[in-house]
Order: sequence, then structure tokens, then C-alpha cells
Amino acid sequence: MLLSDHSYDDYSAATPFLIALCLRAGLFCYIIIFTMKKFYVIKTFGCQMNVHESEKIAGIAEELGYFVTEDDSNADLIVFNTCCIRDTAEKKILGNIGDVKVLKKKKPSLIVAVVGCMTQQNGAAEELKKKFPFVNIVLGTSNLSELSSAIIAIENRQKKRYDHILNETMPTIDETIPVKRTSGTNAWVNIMYGCNNFCTYCIVPYVRGRERSRDFSVILDEVKSLLDEGYKEITLLGQNVDSYAYENKRFVNILEEIAKLPGKFRLRFMTSHPKDFNSAVIDVIRSCDNICNNVHLPIQSGSDRILKLMNRHYDRARYMEVLNEIKQKLPHCGITTDIMVGFPTETEEDFLDTMSLVREARFSNAFTFVYSPRRGTVAAAMEQLSPAVKKDRITRLVDLQNSITKELSLEYIGRTEEVLVEDLNPKKPGFVCGRTESGRLVNFPGVEADIGAFKQVKITTSRSAALWGETYGE
Ligand code: 5AD
Ligand code: SF4
Repeated sequence: MLLSDHSYDDYSAATPFLIALCLRAGLFCYIIIFTMKKFYVIKTFGCQMNVHESEKIAGIAEELGYFVTEDDSNADLIVFNTCCIRDTAEKKILGNIGDVKVLKKKKPSLIVAVVGCMTQQNGAAEELKKKFPFVNIVLGTSNLSELSSAIIAIENRQKKRYDHILNETMPTIDETIPVKRTSGTNAWVNIMYGCNNFCTYCIVPYVRGRERSRDFSVILDEVKSLLDEGYKEITLLGQNVDSYAYENKRFVNILEEIAKLPGKFRLRFMTSHPKDFNSAVIDVIRSCDNICNNVHLPIQSGSDRILKLMNRHYDRARYMEVLNEIKQKLPHCGITTDIMVGFPTETEEDFLDTMSLVREARFSNAFTFVYSPRRGTVAAAMEQLSPAVKKDRITRLVDLQNSITKELSLEYIGRTEEVLVEDLNPKKPGFVCGRTESGRLVNFPGVEADIGAFKQVKITTSRSAALWGETYGE
């Protein structure tokens, strides 16, 4: 018999040997599989659009058999999903790509890919190649679907480099890219791509092309299956969601149709443009309980002269009219904004107009930026302000908005808010965090099993923008 070869004449004596053998074989197989396993890292920069695009990159990588890792030195594939909206973003990304050179030296088989907005700028791909010759793949915003074949070509050593920037202004929407969602309770859903607005400071229309809206029924089907999978929040994404247009369907139709779907969930959207945001959208939010009272409405500047130079197509009065209609019809609506300081020719008087608008509008929160010239845009050719003036203005603006956010936080104390639990509080054991309908972050006692649940939370304390509370009656 089999065991006699090993001079065991008794089965029970052979058992430990067999177990040890199996364990060794198992360990051996595990080591083989583990060492053969390929790992990927995605480094994402920029807006929610990019965060969602990275979920598509993850989908592509996993379809090719890669597993995610947090450890760069363990990676076989590193993808930089880039942003070029401001100079600061670009500098940071260039520094990060430079750091990979050391890893590539240690592991020459490492595949390095650079995709996204930065590569799509005029001449940027050529510059990247010169600066970082170790980069294997460079793809533009419109041909991300080539990433899979590019990786395969490099893996099989058919090519050392694969770069292709598609320069079409109206690229077709690729619905076939797999998505590996990473955003927990919330699922991002693109409803449109690109932008037609050409604000004079902005690079987006150049790197993302003209507006293209996704098929209405494809969006609805995607949302339905996400809700079936258990997502509790859907966030619709677009550079300018209000200009969604597919056949006879408009943005309000999407909101209405999704809001009708069964089950308990929240619907959010971003970004709205003040020239297009309208009463119809406000009325739909008011009439549908599951559409969050939360609007992101970038103002950019409080000065009519600067708004005109920015090509924003609204003035301060029109913006305040929209804002006041939201506040009147949706009294608890969280209204956030984007504001820029230091746009070319901005005078102290223009800046004071921005400050007075911020005082008047009392935004829940504001994303504040220092203007930075972007190549090829109209404003880049205008007379620029000194860094010192910009620094002084951003400091004053941030201080003002922080004090308003703090005051508005105090108004929440004593209120009971419905909060969707998103995660464990990373800093405070025994606490979870989530958002109110208006978009405010709330921390309160909870456990991992609470993630994805809607909780009634009584707000007890506030610390600048963050709120703290307690649940009761459960
Ligand atoms: N410099 C600084 N901020 C910019 N933004 C867009 N372009 C620039 C630029 N060149 C800001 C705008 C926009 C947000 C996404 O980024 O405020 O709303
Ligand atoms: Fe850029 Fe203006 Fe389009 Fe927004 S609306 S993406 S700021 S061009």
C-alpha cells in the first residue's frame, strides 16, 4: 500500500506525517500563488469624476487578474489617474510620478501608467515621456478603454511603451468598461461627460471635450442594479448636470425617475451651474423625500466685472436670486460653493465684493481656491496678480468662511437629523461617522454593523464643520 513506501505499518502513525505533508504542500502552493499574484495601486488626484474613473481603472486591472494593494513596493502595476485643474495638483502629481523611478529600478517589470486630464493637455504626453522615460503607458481621457490592451502589450513585451492620446472633442461614451466600486455606501453614477462652458480660467473643456449625455435608460438600469446590490446613496455626476440632454429627457426627468424607485436610499448630484440651475430642479427636490436637500452651486466670484471676465453667464444678482429661491423653498438645504481668488486683474474692490457675497450667502461650506493659470485658456494670457496678493486674499476668505461654517454648525445643536452611517470614525474608537441630508459630517457612538444604516441622531456638539451627536430610542 501507499504508506508502506514510507515504512509506516500503522495508519494512525502515518496521519501526522500526511498532515505535515499536506500543510507543506499547501504552504508551497500558497507561496507559489502569492508570488505569482499580480498587484495594482491606483493613485487618484482631483475631483469625484476622477474618483469614479479610478473605479473603472480598478475594474480593468481586476479583470486582468491584478489584486489591489496599498503597498507601492509590492505593486506590479501603478496607475496615476491625474488632474490638471490647478498648478498645485500638477506639481504634486509630477513629484509622485518621479518617486516611482526608484521602485522601477528595483523591479524593472513594474508597469507604470499615467492617464487622465493631465495627459490630455496640449503637448503634455510628449513632456511626460521626456521627463519620465520609465513610464510605460500614457492614455488620454477619452481612450481609457485602451488601458487593458496597453497593459497586456507591456506584460507580453510586445511593446516597451504604449501611448495614445485621442484628440477628439466628442468622443463616444464607452459603456463596456467594468467598474470595481470602492466608495462604500455611496455609488457614483456619471450622467454626462465634458463641458461646453469655457469659463476663461478652466482647462476642463480642453481636456474632457464637449458635453455628452449618457443614454437615459442605461443610467436608470445602472441605478436600479446599484440599489439591488444594496447601495444606500446614489450621487449623479457631471461637470454641469443641469445641461443633461438625451433625446427628450432632461435633468429633472432623471431625478424624478430615480426618486420613484423602491427602497430606502438617498439621491445626490453635482455639479450645478448657476446659469442653468432652475426652479424645476428645486421643485423636484422639494417634492421627493429621497432627493437630498444639498446643492453645490459654484459662485467663483462676487464681482460682476470678474464674473464677466470669467465668462460665467450670470451676475451676482442672478446668483442671489437662485440662492434665495433655494433657501425659501428648502429651508434646511445645505448649499456649498466654489470660490476663487486672484483671478487676473482682480482688484481689492472686486475681492471685497466676493467677501460681501460670502457674508450675504452664508454657505454651509466653500471650496476655496487660488487662481492658477492653465495653458491654452483665455485667462492665462491676461495680466496676472502677485502670489503675495493671492495669499493674503485666500487667507482672509478662508477665515471668513470658517467663521460662518462654525456659526451654522451651532444651529444644528439640539436638532435630530437622519444620518446615513458611512464608516467607522478613524480617530475615535467606538464611534461611526456619516452625513446628514444636507451633507454635514456627523460623528456619534456606533459599531461596524451600523455602516449602511440610517440613524436618527441628536446633535449635541459642534467642532467647526463637524457635528457630534448621540442616537436614542433603539
Ligand atoms: N485655478 C484655480 N481654481 C480653478 N478652478 C477651476 N480652474 C481653476 C484654476 N485655473 C476651480 C473652480 C472650479 C473648481 C472645480 O476648481 O472654482 O469650480
Ligand atoms: Fe470648468 Fe466652467 Fe465647465 Fe465648470 S462650467 S468645468 S468651471 S468650464
